[in-house]
Amino acid sequence: MRTAALFLSLIIAAPLAAAKEPTTPNAVERGRYLVATSGCNDCHTSGYIARAGKVPEKDWLTGDSMSWSGPWGTTYAANLRLRLADMDLATWKNFARTAVLRPPMPYWALNQMSDGDLEAIWAFTRSLGKAGVPAPAALPPGVEAPLPAFTLHLPPAPPSPAR
Ligand code: HEC
Repeated sequence: MRTAALFLSLIIAAPLAAAKEPTTPNAVERGRYLVATSGCNDCHTSGYIARAGKVPEKDWLTGDSMSWSGPWGTTYAANLRLRLADMDLATWKNFARTAVLRPPMPYWALNQMSDGDLEAIWAFTRSLGKAGVPAPAALPPGVEAPLPAFTLHLPPAPPSPAR
């Protein structure tokens, strides 16, 4: 009788626990895979490109102070460990689906990610915990970008067609 009661409480408790905490080990694993293969680390992890991906996982997604500079001004890849720590899953999904961000962030890729992929990236990033400092604030066009910087030089805009 006691065994039956214990068994019952387990099968009742299991789905409740799952609903409360969507961060399953599977989601975390899938998130690790997506972050490593979808380019997020390339920009959001300092030194990731220079060291060909050989950056310890504890330092992943803590943002970067390298300047991305061009006609849009200067932008910095955000510290996602801090940003996602402050977002619940619904807020993150809504943000990821609707965000229109400045270069070189491929926001159109983020906008199209499936529910499962967004949940996985959220779960994995939060599983790493908060770390690092916020990336520097963006600078407006015309302000010189601090080094190190990737700078996009474009030819002068063609004259606008006569009307
Ligand atoms: C080529 C570089 C690059 C890649 C690749 C990249 N990002 Fe970004 N990301 C940026 C930059 C730069 C910004 C800041 C854009 C701005 O200030 O408008 C940014 C901003 C963001 C933001 C907004 C943060 C905020 O605080 O507003 C999120 C979320 C984000 N990236 C997630 C991702 C994820 C997830 C991936 C992988 C699927 C990814 N990024 C891949 C460069 C990149």
